Amino acid sequence: MTSDIIRTTTIEPRFALPLEQLQRDCFPTLGEAELMREEHFLNHCRLFPEGNFVALCRDRVIGLGSGFLIDFDFDQAQHRFQEIIDGGYYSNHDPAGAWYYGGDISVHPDFRRRGVGSMLYEARKGIVKNLNRRGIVAGGLIPGFAAYKGSMSAHEYVKRVIAGEINDSTLSFQLGRGFEVRGMLDDYIEDDASDNWATLIVWDNPSFKAK
Ligand SMILES: CC(C)(COP(=O)(O)OP(=O)(O)OC[C@H]1O[C@@H](n2cnc3c(N)ncnc32)[C@H](O)[C@@H]1OP(=O)(O)O)[C@@H](O)C(=O)NCCC(=O)NCCS
Repeated sequence: MTSDIIRTTTIEPRFALPLEQLQRDCFPTLGEAELMREEHFLNHCRLFPEGNFVALCRDRVIGLGSGFLIDFDFDQAQHRFQEIIDGGYYSNHDPAGAWYYGGDISVHPDFRRRGVGSMLYEARKGIVKNLNRRGIVAGGLIPGFAAYKGSMSAHEYVKRVIAGEINDSTLSFQLGRGFEVRGMLDDYIEDDASDNWATLIVWDNPSFKAK
């Protein structure tokens, strides 16, 4: 697979239906209600097309990096996924928002570990820098916790992933992309593997300039 046939581009309505299928392929442990559908992606096209990215292999949709702008309040950081993403519609998008909230980053299982997720993060970081926003914030899932649920708490698990003692397919990836864990989000999402937990992950834009 050469990188010239895999590329990222901004979202367009013609990608909405393939993205619905991609959700099912990428998140097999999530409840159906947590998955985004065609109508959600069409709304992302309307609200913030320049900040929502898809990865393509030739014409096939193989990845998604989606999100919206928001004034995230770190003093009241606890939130639930479905609330902040407004059931997938991203209607909390505020064009003047200081932070990019990462709603979804996902790569089709057949295309993982080939740098596609990193390409999507680079595209996100690019728009955050271009728009001079503070950074990226998201709830990061911990699917690898599934294997440790019986033996340690989610807090202990995350500590050990950060220390590099345990590899988590999602959190280790995000730590490697420059994200920091700033807290734990309880009851964030209906997900057996993560036991409904997520980490509050943040990437600070190094080139942000306050006006
Ligand atoms: C997380 C995800 C987007 C990563 O996408 P990807 O295209 O496989 O990532 P990349 O190939 O760009 O990998 C980037 C780095 O992460 C590492 N990595 C990726 N998957 C990994 C895994 N399962 N275990 C350990 N490291 C991993 C790679 O080794 C690479 O490290 P390097 O830069 O030091 O070489 C993908 O695994 C995915 O779609 N997972 C399911 C959906 C999901 O959980 N999304 C996040 C929701 S919060």
